[in-house]
Amino acid sequence: MIKKLLTMFAILAMAASGTASAATDANGAKNDEKVPRITLNNGVKMPQFGLGTYALDDRGTAYNAVLTALTNGYRHIDTAHAYQNEKSVGKAIKDSGIPRKEIWITSKLWPTEYSNAEEALTKMLDRLGLDYIDLVYLHQPVGEYMKAWDALVKAQKEGKVRAIGISNFDRVEKLYDSFIAEVKVKPQTMQLECHPYAQRKHWQEKLKADNIQQENWFPLGGRESRGAILKDETLEKIAKAKGKSIAQIIIRWHIQEGFSVIPGASNPDYIKENIEVFDWNLTDEEMETIRGLNKEQLFFNPPAESMERFYLNRKLPD
Ligand SMILES: NC(=O)c1ccc[n+]([C@@H]2O[C@H](COP(=O)([O-])OP(=O)(O)OC[C@H]3O[C@@H](n4cnc5c(N)ncnc54)[C@H](OP(=O)(O)O)[C@@H]3O)[C@@H](O)[C@H]2O)c1
Repeated sequence: MIKKLLTMFAILAMAASGTASAATDANGAKNDEKVPRITLNNGVKMPQFGLGTYALDDRGTAYNAVLTALTNGYRHIDTAHAYQNEKSVGKAIKDSGIPRKEIWITSKLWPTEYSNAEEALTKMLDRLGLDYIDLVYLHQPVGEYMKAWDALVKAQKEGKVRAIGISNFDRVEKLYDSFIAEVKVKPQTMQLECHPYAQRKHWQEKLKADNIQQENWFPLGGRESRGAILKDETLEKIAKAKGKSIAQIIIRWHIQEGFSVIPGASNPDYIKENIEVFDWNLTDEEMETIRGLNKEQLFFNPPAESMERFYLNRKLPD
């Protein structure tokens, strides 16, 4: 009798959490996932949308944001060694109780680690509490990035990393060109600043031609923009007409352009709002109107030389 009751209870619990009906494929994708996945050039499927964690501290903010995100259907988290919050990200993932393979985790190696990237990756896995990472980027195009790339290729072959990418290589186009010409294994993704005020038309074409998935940082303009795009009158009109927030209109624009997008948020209401963009569409006309806002205005654009010095001098604690 007790055994029968326990079995019934288990079935009811599974049905309530939706696991009874949702099959999981080899990529960790469930058939009831909120966010679509895009196929990268090595066949791996990445959730197109995720949570950015830049500037979310390790003293509770990052942990709470990641847990809120995962509870609300996010399955993709973007962190970096430089954000100094990987431990919190890893802990929130563990505490969420969601099977590891359903979640896409991205992190980034910092330039001071490039000369010993293999060891840096081991330390990264330790901080995250994981035995593999879905995507690892070279965070900046400075220092010994070629050496680090070889280490990432090796880690990918060994199954420690599923996809490898480059970040901010748009800042020095010649360097991007020679990197792509030289490497035997091409990046799966590239991260760069992109939003309605800097749509990066040139890079959109270039990355498409190179079959590299574009993933956008500062998708809402970032904190440095002081909310400039979130106050845009044209976007406000579209948002009002559709009964959506301006942030949702911007995120939906990224999605319909085919970008991967990782808006950052610590406010739980923003986190919940930002993922509610997958059951409605912008019309072709609305997409064109938003494309018309482009002025290629970057919100983070320091001179490449001063950045190089700064990045190479910034030693991060393990
Ligand atoms: N590869 C790189 O070099 C690089 C550089 C920068 C960023 N990134 C990655 O890209 C992610 C996204 O960039 P980001 O976080 O800097 O900028 P962002 O996503 O453009 O903007 C984040 C800001 O928008 C606010 N926000 C979020 N949702 C909102 C909403 N629905 N309504 C109003 N405001 C909202 C957030 O507020 P609250 O915090 O108050 O919630 C935060 O101040 C980062 O978190 C990081 O993971 C990568």
